[in-house]
Amino acid sequence: MDFKNYIRDIDNFPSPGVGFKDITPLLQDKTAFQEAAKALLKMVDNQKIDKVVGMESRGFFYGPILASELKAGFVPVRKLGKLPAETVAQTYKLEYGTDTLEMHKDSVQKGDRILIHDDVLATGGTAAAVCQLVERLGGSIVQCNFLIELDFLKGIEKLNGYDVRSLLHY
Ligand code: PRP
Ligand code: MG
Repeated sequence: MDFKNYIRDIDNFPSPGVGFKDITPLLQDKTAFQEAAKALLKMVDNQKIDKVVGMESRGFFYGPILASELKAGFVPVRKLGKLPAETVAQTYKLEYGTDTLEMHKDSVQKGDRILIHDDVLATGGTAAAVCQLVERLGGSIVQCNFLIELDFLKGIEKLNGYDVRSLLHY
């Protein structure tokens, strides 16, 4: 299946000059939605995973599906102030300014085998921050798994040393 047929380009969103990859056509198609889940799962290649860590918001579409299929737990990474219990936080750089992500302190145990999932790897700031959070909690990152990688933004350079797999490259 050519998943790229289900990714829509939106020019100048969310700000002028930015080309947005809209994955909602893929999500709303009953066949493409399921086939993409299978393809993401295939990239994990039967490795043992204890927890899938997915980042707000668009890492929540497939993250829990992958977790369920892998018989793993699901751990949400959220933006600052959204998680109710004790957290660890990591601030990272955006194109303009900074942002902060949090995870619950008890969400990952030492030695847990972690699959990180998000929809898009762009500059890599988000994923690198999540890798730092997971490792601060003692997790062992098995793979960073994305639906889409924007190769020209070189996010992979921020994920040096990790197994980075993306279903679609642009
Ligand atoms: C988008 C996307 C990734 C991140 C990638 O999320 O869903 O999480 O940006 O960018 P980076 O590699 O340059 O860090 P966004 O922060 O826009 O929020 P959303 O998922 O809630 O839409
Ligand atoms: Mg996101």
